[in-house]
Amino acid sequence: MSIIIAVDGTAASGKGTLAKRLAQHFGFAHLDSGSLYRLVALGVTEAHGDPASEADALAAARALDPARRYDPAIRSRAMGNVASVVSAFPAVRATLLAFQRDFAARPPGGLKGSVIDGRDIGTIVCPDATAKLFVDAAPGVRARRRWLELSAAGAAPPESAILADIEARDARDRNRPVAPLKPAPDARLLDTSDLDIDAAFAAALALVEPSVENALKALAKG
Ligand code: CDP
Repeated sequence: MSIIIAVDGTAASGKGTLAKRLAQHFGFAHLDSGSLYRLVALGVTEAHGDPASEADALAAARALDPARRYDPAIRSRAMGNVASVVSAFPAVRATLLAFQRDFAARPPGGLKGSVIDGRDIGTIVCPDATAKLFVDAAPGVRARRRWLELSAAGAAPPESAILADIEARDARDRNRPVAPLKPAPDARLLDTSDLDIDAAFAAALALVEPSVENALKALAKG
């Protein structure tokens, strides 16, 4: 049995940073499932395909090389927006499911657990996860954070454009019929609007630590 922390949430809510820090804290592997959908977006774009075409999106999903998930090209604003279009196709989601479940069942490096962040980890990918978080923050706060992140990378559009992207993406993610963005019934909710990253991490840790420690003890007992 492997330990799984599912960290779902809205666009630019800080779930990725939290997931990374939780993984470091527990010595677990980290998977940013959004990077897989962004890779599908990059694949469609590189093939000069149409993101609104299920066939083009599916061809990119089938050709996806998860080893490319650290490619900085997927981090652009455009790839985030295209990702939220291609991710609504059920066949694309089904194609990415096996990789995510396999990562959770057998974390790389023989680690005892994994932290996976996304939109449907606690609901669809790993409904039996050891601990589940759902991270959110006020849209204006999220837009500012993403603006700071894109500015640091040297390419920031106006904050108002980022806010519009984030709101459109959330609406698409929430309203799609398959694997919509919503908290699992047993997820712990974390609103990071008024928390800096250290405070958000402390709050996230307090929410997941009891279940994770219990699971680690059970693993140790065999
Ligand atoms: O980091 P950010 O919150 O901007 O987004 P992301 O996690 O990189 O995800 C990009 C897009 O991929 C999202 O807007 C979703 O449409 C899609 N996605 C998804 O459908 N399911 C996931 N498990 C992860 C991402």
